[in-house]
Amino acid sequence: MPNETIELLYRHRSIRKYKPLPIKQEQLSQILSAAQSVSSSNFLQSSTIIRITDTNKREKLAHYSGDQSYIIQAPEFWVFCADFNRFYQIEPNLQLEKAEQLLLGCIDTTIMAQNAVIAAESLGLGCVYIGGLRNSIDKVTELLALPKYVLPLFGLCFGYPDLSEQPEIKPRLPKELVFFENQYQPINHNLLKQYDEQMNSYYQHRTNNKKVGGWSDKIAEIINRENRDFMLAYLHKQGWITR
Ligand SMILES: Cc1cc2nc3c(=O)[nH]c(=O)nc-3n(C[C@H](O)[C@H](O)[C@H](O)COP(=O)(O)O)c2cc1C
Repeated sequence: MPNETIELLYRHRSIRKYKPLPIKQEQLSQILSAAQSVSSSNFLQSSTIIRITDTNKREKLAHYSGDQSYIIQAPEFWVFCADFNRFYQIEPNLQLEKAEQLLLGCIDTTIMAQNAVIAAESLGLGCVYIGGLRNSIDKVTELLALPKYVLPLFGLCFGYPDLSEQPEIKPRLPKELVFFENQYQPINHNLLKQYDEQMNSYYQHRTNNKKVGGWSDKIAEIINRENRDFMLAYLHKQGWITR
């Protein structure tokens, strides 16, 4: 039997509708402490979170993210940034803009965010990440006054789930397709087909946004849609990955 923590992880689903209730200061502080408790590459602590309380900024961020209204509705909206500007302020003669630093900042910040999600879910809150924030990353950078060497990766909405919306847990890929021993394995098409059937049934029976089709037939559309071709130029401008 999975323990309580593992049960909590298994129950995860994104929540996009919230009760209009503020989250207690003590809980926010616990979520932040949990986020800060993660491992950190070389103990650099290369992340910054910006909490958005300004309604006008929320509205703009919701619009920039593709009109995702829950950014406005959520009691809390935090923006997670990879941050090497802090190091630059401490030591202006650093060798920055390296590819490895981009990876480090993204890895550490993402790990940090997931601790925040687990802490929030353990308190009965629901969350959804907002990668849509990167749709208009230039405008987000300006709105939040992000200096060079700061990279906004995603937002996180959270709050008490509105029980009128109870999204089902999404089935995950069969373990055999994501967990290999000793070397990489080609895809097992039979297992993929079974998973596509399972997802087709999930999509047709779930409460909201019912649709037809499996999982694998959506990949091309999604990957081609989320291309954000401006990203390399943005990264260069913002002082990331020029060498
Ligand atoms: C980095 C990241 C960015 C995401 N961005 C968005 C987003 O902009 N809008 C949204 O509604 N969901 C977003 N999601 C949520 C995913 O769609 C969701 O996690 C996925 O469909 C699996 O569903 P589940 O979280 O309910 O298990 C994002 C998830 C991640 C990890």
